[in-house]
Amino acid sequence: MTNVLFAGTEENWETYKTLIPEALKARGVSATFGRDIAPEMVDYIVYSPLGPVQDFTPFTRLKAVLSLWAGVERVVGNNTLKAPLCRMVDSGLKKGMAEWVAGHCLRYHLGMDAHITNPAHEWRSGMAPPLAEDRSIGILGLGELGQASAEALNCLGFNVNGWSRSLKSIEGIACFSGSEGLSTLLGRSEILVLLLPQTADTTHILNAQTLAKMPKGASILNPGRGPLIDDEALLASLNARHIAHATLDVFAKEPLPQDHPYWAHPSVTVTPHIASETRPKSAAEVVAENVRRGESAEPFLFEVDQGQGY
Ligand SMILES: NC(=O)c1ccc[n+]([C@@H]2O[C@H](COP(=O)([O-])OP(=O)(O)OC[C@H]3O[C@@H](n4cnc5c(N)ncnc54)[C@H](OP(=O)(O)O)[C@@H]3O)[C@@H](O)[C@H]2O)c1
Repeated sequence: MTNVLFAGTEENWETYKTLIPEALKARGVSATFGRDIAPEMVDYIVYSPLGPVQDFTPFTRLKAVLSLWAGVERVVGNNTLKAPLCRMVDSGLKKGMAEWVAGHCLRYHLGMDAHITNPAHEWRSGMAPPLAEDRSIGILGLGELGQASAEALNCLGFNVNGWSRSLKSIEGIACFSGSEGLSTLLGRSEILVLLLPQTADTTHILNAQTLAKMPKGASILNPGRGPLIDDEALLASLNARHIAHATLDVFAKEPLPQDHPYWAHPSVTVTPHIASETRPKSAAEVVAENVRRGESAEPFLFEVDQGQGY
């Protein structure tokens, strides 16, 4: 018998307690699914970093840990984890991120704020925005979410440039890698979107030096992870009016502390880590599919390269 332990939060349990068994059944996988399975009997753990399992040592026959979260920075360095780790990528998460990125890029591109907030009722004519084809957007990270966002922006007509560790070839997107590629991409990014995972290599990738490479008046969207940005350097760049505006969804400390300068800064929009979330129905399908694959000795979906950290 295959045993799948649910190690998410109480709230997660209410969401998934019927969805995952249904998705397993639909694939013909016969498995026990629950929260009270003796560790030495567990084959798969459905995992949240906010759930009860932090030490994987007692799980002696573990075949895989199936994360409900897309970002795995809180578990990937766990020395007690010896089994494969799969992160969550579901269709809803990708669609949601592409919509959030497209929406906030359009806000900047169209200069919407100038009309939404106009207390003096000024008739500011002659302010038609350029066409999307005359606007360059850079995306750091061309993985599942970066590519979905790049494709959405491309469909809107923007000039889209993307950067990743391995060089990609994606129709309609100018692709870059390496440090020279990063400099080139930054230099042409009127809007920059951060969709990198948080690893040792990506921490503070946006710092005083890299911010200085961006065009004056550029804007930044960070739906990736807070530590991708050196906050002091960004605040300095915003105060010097080199970077015009930043919309930040993720932060080094969450919830963002009430006294953090981002809250009151006129050139910063804070959103509370809501850019996109795992959609339970499609996420349950991914979990069940990975159990099926594990039981059929097929490669897992979205397995993390634990050496690379993502
Ligand atoms: N705000 C939210 O609501 C929310 C929701 C979900 C996820 N997220 C965040 O979004 C991140 C991205 O998710 P994803 O599913 O797109 O991840 P992914 O599929 O693993 O893609 C990561 C991308 O980053 C690139 N990359 C990693 N390290 C790099 C480095 N050192 N230099 C250059 N490129 C590097 C990878 O390059 P290769 O292609 O060469 O491997 C890949 O293109 C997650 O890690 C998470 O932090 C946020």
